[in-house]
Amino acid sequence: MSNYRINDLEHYFKAQKEAIENPEKFWGDIAEQNFQWRKKWNKVVAHNLAEAEVKWFLGAKLNITENCIDRHLKTRGNKTAILWEPNDPNEPAEHITYKDLHQRVCKFANVLKESGVKKGDRVCIYLPMIPDLTVSILACARIGAIHSVVFAGFSSTALATRINDCEAKVVITSDGGFRGDKTINLKGIVDEALKHMSCVETVLVAKRIDSKISMKAGRDKFLKPLLEKASDDCYAEEMDAEDPLFILYTSGSTGMPKGMLHTTAGYMVYSAYTFNNVFRPEENDIYWCAADIGWITGHSYIVYGPLANGTTSVMFEGVPSYPDFGRFWEVIEKYKINQFYTAPTAIRTLAKENVSFVEKHDLSSLKILGTVGEPINEEAWHWYDNHIGKKGCPITDTWWQTETGGMMICPIPFVTPTKPTFATLPMPGIQVCLMDENGKEIEGNRESGRLCIKFPWPSMARTIWGNHQRYKETYFITYPGKYFTGDGAMRDEVGYYRITGRVDDVIIISGHNLGTAPIEDAINEHEKVVESAVVGFPHNIKGNALYGYIILKEEDEHDKLRNEINRVISEQIGPIAKLDKIQFVKGLPKTRSGKIMRRILRKIAHKDTSKLGDISTLLNPDIVEEIMKGAL
Ligand code: WT7
Repeated sequence: MSNYRINDLEHYFKAQKEAIENPEKFWGDIAEQNFQWRKKWNKVVAHNLAEAEVKWFLGAKLNITENCIDRHLKTRGNKTAILWEPNDPNEPAEHITYKDLHQRVCKFANVLKESGVKKGDRVCIYLPMIPDLTVSILACARIGAIHSVVFAGFSSTALATRINDCEAKVVITSDGGFRGDKTINLKGIVDEALKHMSCVETVLVAKRIDSKISMKAGRDKFLKPLLEKASDDCYAEEMDAEDPLFILYTSGSTGMPKGMLHTTAGYMVYSAYTFNNVFRPEENDIYWCAADIGWITGHSYIVYGPLANGTTSVMFEGVPSYPDFGRFWEVIEKYKINQFYTAPTAIRTLAKENVSFVEKHDLSSLKILGTVGEPINEEAWHWYDNHIGKKGCPITDTWWQTETGGMMICPIPFVTPTKPTFATLPMPGIQVCLMDENGKEIEGNRESGRLCIKFPWPSMARTIWGNHQRYKETYFITYPGKYFTGDGAMRDEVGYYRITGRVDDVIIISGHNLGTAPIEDAINEHEKVVESAVVGFPHNIKGNALYGYIILKEEDEHDKLRNEINRVISEQIGPIAKLDKIQFVKGLPKTRSGKIMRRILRKIAHKDTSKLGDISTLLNPDIVEEIMKGAL
């Protein structure tokens, strides 16, 4: 799979032009030349974005696991597909070859069938980062069941909401999991979640930590004996291009999480295409995405994208701080990782530790670095570039969403010149535009606006499970006929995009529209700052004023620091962006995926803490109380 790789900038612009002028041919050729189909499509794309209706590769038949596993068996049977690195570095790693993976997936698929799972049934997977997670995902896809992976850090309430919403028939979990020096009790959480639920018939339980758990007779079964007995031959169900592949929940700004539904062919084509172009795997490369498979990043770029390309994908059970802050770098050295993909929040965490944790390790195998999930601030970008890439590895800052299924705006390494804090240019076929508040498209460069996409792409979510109206209202009503991302962006003088943050975080000060990301960026430039979050609060002259929550690397006189920080902001953005209030905090409330929960910080800044909403899914709920105590 190499005849779709972009070689240079000229090639990129040519591909972009072709994809816009003739999307049918562009995506049709890619799909035809790089994948295995049981039946070809009759039409490449049919769409009515105003109604939130999109279909790709209409009438085609395939099975995604044949593309991710079976077709590699002849040439790559003994190549490692999944290289599993356990939490404890002293425990042996697992090298799962494509042949092993095939066998394990078929066995697992047969166990699911014996548990009564049929095509179209939902299976909830609540597992830690162990090989069974990847295997169970692919086993669902093998038989046409719809997987819904729930991140193993979510609480029983969050899990229950998700199981209920998609009416899962089976839950796959484990006795527990390891994360650094902690263990998590997954089975207990599942039991709690299932207390008042009738849809789940079977709970399949993997063993990982050998803890004492209770097994409910008739419902709960240990996986191991079932897998041992199961046949390793399992027919790959023939799926329609538009048959659902998975549901993955993402939090809305309020209320119920949204079950984003992804379908088979378009998702496969786009995740594999972007993986190939962005990470540019060579046959013997070892690729590592350090995300959790519980998020879309892991779905697209640990499991489906890499395996569709026949790549060796590393799956890491642990955390960056265990046994010490050198773990990422140790793993890179151990496996001679060639491409490394992580989140800015991890980079910032590691950058504040002693650089000797990095310098102990040989990172010379690295070729490409990636980031995902949030804007990367300039300081973190340079640290990643200097200390990890040694100034020799392009950094691809990839902007995308659970809804988009794959990377949308990012530099293509060795093709697109990078610019710190800029996601740069859209992938071929992605028609990005900026819209103003009145619904008009903003033309020209050096402009800011709301980021929209005007034409469908193969891996876009097709609906919100069970609520198409909400899907339409959330993404397609604000700008009729366009997909609205919810993010703001600016386009620089050469047409590069910089994501300025969620527009629900935009703060208008004295009539000026300021994204939080650039202000936080400026604050983080101060040498004593680790991380910051900025929100607006009402001000009777300016309309809004800015409240900054700041974590310090080292203590100093607070008033002096406040002045210095505001000076940096004035220098970087302008006096208008100066903070009216600065509260120094020990931590920031974060979601499990590492995003700052600005909703809570905004309430505290508004002195409106009566209804904080659900904070149970936070990584660190305790910090909220502490911040409230010190509020200004
Ligand atoms: C939101 C989507 C993409 C998988 C993980 C997150 C923000 C994501 C970037 C980036 C600036 C980014 C956006 C987006 N975001 N990547 N490179 N630069 N912002 O998926 O949980 O669905 O979140 O994350 O605000 O809308 P998600």
